[in-house]
Amino acid sequence: HRHLLGIEGLSPLDIKALLDLADAAVDVSRQVEKKKATLRGRTQINLFFEPSTRTQASFELAGKRLGADVMNMSVASSSVKKGETLIDTAATLNAMRPDLIVVRHDAAGAVNLLARKVDCSVINAGDGSHEHPTQALLDALTIRRNKGTIAGLTVAICGDILHSRVARSNMILLAAMGARVRLVAPSTLLPAGIAQLGFETFSDMARGLAGADIVMMLRLQRERMNGSFVPSVKEYFRYYGLDREKLALAAPDALVMHPGPMNRGVEIASDVADGPQSLIREQVEMGVAVRMAVLEALAMHLPGKA
Ligand code: CP
Repeated sequence: HRHLLGIEGLSPLDIKALLDLADAAVDVSRQVEKKKATLRGRTQINLFFEPSTRTQASFELAGKRLGADVMNMSVASSSVKKGETLIDTAATLNAMRPDLIVVRHDAAGAVNLLARKVDCSVINAGDGSHEHPTQALLDALTIRRNKGTIAGLTVAICGDILHSRVARSNMILLAAMGARVRLVAPSTLLPAGIAQLGFETFSDMARGLAGADIVMMLRLQRERMNGSFVPSVKEYFRYYGLDREKLALAAPDALVMHPGPMNRGVEIASDVADGPQSLIREQVEMGVAVRMAVLEALAMHLPGKA
C-alpha cells in the first residue's frame, strides 16, 4: 500500500503485520535513545484542519523517532484562512516534495481526495465521521497486549457511534480480527441500518455491557451534531455514562478504553477513567508506536527505496 486511508481495504494479515511492527516500536520508544534511521532524509508534513492533541503529537514524535524531518503545518495561520482550497493547499505542499503527508480534516472523504492529488504517501489522521485508522490500530495493539488476542473477545463500543470515525474504524478492524462487536447507544446516535451489517446493537447500557471483555467509551461529538441531538449532560451520564456500577456488569476482568479527548462526567466517571481497569494512558503510549509502524510500513514503498 502507498497510502493508509482507512482500515477498510486492509486484510487481517496487513493488520497483524502492522501490530507486530508496532510491538517492536514500543521497545524502541522505551529505550533511553529512541532514534532509528528508517526515515532519515525524508520529509513528513502534518496537515491538521481539525484540533488534535494525541494524533498530531504522536505522529510528530513517531516521525522524529524514525529520523524524518517533520513539519507541522499550522492551518490556523495558513492561507486556508484566506480562502485557499484543500486541493490548492495540497498542490502547494506537494511542490515542496514531501515524502509523507499526514492529514486530518472535518469532511469525510477529504483525505482520499487529497491522496489523489499528490505524489507522496498520505495517511488519514481522521476525516469527518468516516475513518481514523491509526486510532483503531492503536486500540487493537492495546487490546492484544493486554488480552493476548483479539479474536473471540466481546467489545462493547458505547456512546456517539453515529458521528464517530473511531467507532467506524474499530468496527471494521475488530470484526476483521474476529471480535464480537456490540454497539451501545441511544437509538438517535446509532447509524441507520447498522444492525443489518451484523453488529449487535443495544440502547440499554446494562444489557450492552453484560459480560463484555472490553468497554470502549466515546465522546459526544457535538461539533458534528448541528444541534440535532444535544442531550442534557446529567441525563446522558445517568443512562450512558460509564460509572463503577455499570462497569461492574461487564466481565470481572473487563478493561476500559477511550480514544480521548475525554469529557469526564459526561460519558465516563473520573474514578473509572483513572481506575485499575483503565487502559486510557496505555492507549496514548501505543499511539506513538502504531504511528511509527505505519510510517515504517509506508517507507518501504517510498520512491528511491531499494
Ligand atoms: N484520539 C484522538 O484522535 O485524539 P486527538 O483528537 O487529540 O488527536
